[in-house]
Amino acid sequence: MKEKIRVVVLVVALCLAGSVWMKHDYSKRIFQYESEIKKESQMLTQASAQIDGEATVASKDIKKIAITFDDGPDPIWTEKLLDGLAERNVHATFFVLGKKVAENEALLKRMQEEGHLIGNHSYNHVQLNRLREAVVKKELDDTNEQVYEATGYRPEYVRPPYGAWDKKKDCPGEMMTVYWTIDTMDWQLLDADKVMKNVVGKVSDGDIILLHDVYESSVDAALRIVDYLQEEGYELVTVDQLILD
Ligand code: NI
Repeated sequence: MKEKIRVVVLVVALCLAGSVWMKHDYSKRIFQYESEIKKESQMLTQASAQIDGEATVASKDIKKIAITFDDGPDPIWTEKLLDGLAERNVHATFFVLGKKVAENEALLKRMQEEGHLIGNHSYNHVQLNRLREAVVKKELDDTNEQVYEATGYRPEYVRPPYGAWDKKKDCPGEMMTVYWTIDTMDWQLLDADKVMKNVVGKVSDGDIILLHDVYESSVDAALRIVDYLQEEGYELVTVDQLILD
């Protein structure tokens, strides 16, 4: 009988010990499981931080285009264009003619105040590469002076009329020459639809588009081009931002 009791006690003791050990093992597993979850959440946090970092890098890779206007300012069409650009929160570059600035100082001031870049397109719209250096200098200096009087800003960029300049030669006054990569032919076409066709599907990152803010059709086309480029994910910038980027 005593033997039987001993066996029962032993069995009970073994069962108890077993259950205690199993409980211990179970809590150990829970502990391991918890630390695994912790590790995974840490990894997720790191991954999301990396994605944030990549997003910052991606913002530097935004496609950029500069839209530029020559031969202005024009009292009617430049004003309409500035209204349209302001509505769209877009900055452009205006290569102005010195001879037109004096009568349109308010427009120049507005360009400056609204964040556009003002460049030099000579005083009389002359072919600079055919002129003596002193005359070229006067064409550019007189224009810079007119712009400075209107705005307090002296242009640093010049677009030679007809693109006519020896590209290896510096411009007087250390001005930087700016050409274009897309000629819309707006001055010849005088038709907003046709001008649009010279841009749609042809632009790519870094392009400089040439237009003239002295024709109604060009201003209409310009604003449609801006809408199109924004829908295509382009950021519209001034030429200095494009060149310095
Ligand atoms: Ni021109």
